[in-house]
Amino acid sequence: MATQMEQSAHTEFEDALTRAWSTQRENHSGTVADYIPELSKADPGHFGAAIATVKGQIYTIGDAEVPFTIQSVSKAFAFCLALEIAGPDLVASRVGVEPSGDPFNAIVFDPGTNRPFNPMVNAGAIAVAGILHEHLGADAFDFMMERFSLAAGRPLALNEAVYRSEAETGHRNRAIAHLLLANDALAVAPDAALDLYFRQCSIEVTATDLAWMGATFANMGACPRSREHAFDLGPVRSTLAVMFTCGMYDYAGHWAYDVGIPAKSGVGGGIVGVVNRQLGIASFSPRLDAKGNSARGVGAFKVLAEHFGLHAF
Ligand code: DON
Repeated sequence: MATQMEQSAHTEFEDALTRAWSTQRENHSGTVADYIPELSKADPGHFGAAIATVKGQIYTIGDAEVPFTIQSVSKAFAFCLALEIAGPDLVASRVGVEPSGDPFNAIVFDPGTNRPFNPMVNAGAIAVAGILHEHLGADAFDFMMERFSLAAGRPLALNEAVYRSEAETGHRNRAIAHLLLANDALAVAPDAALDLYFRQCSIEVTATDLAWMGATFANMGACPRSREHAFDLGPVRSTLAVMFTCGMYDYAGHWAYDVGIPAKSGVGGGIVGVVNRQLGIASFSPRLDAKGNSARGVGAFKVLAEHFGLHAF
């Protein structure tokens, strides 16, 4: 039987989610991403959120079970895997850890090193995909799927239509991959890194999955849902640091100021946030603001941060 303390925590999480969700439901700002044709089919009205605790509880509201593609949220988890597989020195030789202040798809490199600024922008994420392909070859995507699934606590799947749409229209990413090769930030064929990157972006998740994945980071790499080990502790710590400073693109500074927890967003409308040693929080709403972050998601996280006093400082 739940103790009185557990019951009041239960109510607290449900109340907070209800407040965040209902204040943002009337927020109709932003637009669904349409630069990848398949993404433009998302229902702009969808809105869900979830909180998973390191003790294994889950709280959800709204469209928390509606599938969407993980998109750039994958960059955080892929970076964590690259640190484990290739080690921090090799990773550091290919991608930096400095905020860029530029949009996610910017064709900009650190002028001091000619490397991508960080693994959370496309250039850095494609370099990370290159590292994974270099070490795991054709098995890289299956490896990634297995670990992402362990983190979510259930088997995830690829959205083939989004993957094809990404691959058919990703010319800017192709340009970035070729520049990475020219800058020695890629040691495999650009197409191999790009294919892995397009696939990883097209993995289908729900807000509930993302909350569990966030809670897996909060829980030092072990999924609180399945109790399975998904990530190593050192890479988790390094990834959380980069999420804190770079996870929300050119809104990262405002996010750190207003919300104050490590997070990562994607153009599919998902955001994952991590309250270290405590919670994974996720939101899903496909209308994006001018910076490419989910408009309702940013609003909902602000309410939750205020409600729980989540800010790191
Ligand atoms: O590289 C792209 O265009 C996408 N597949 C991923 C971008 C993304 O989610 C950036 N996020 N805000």
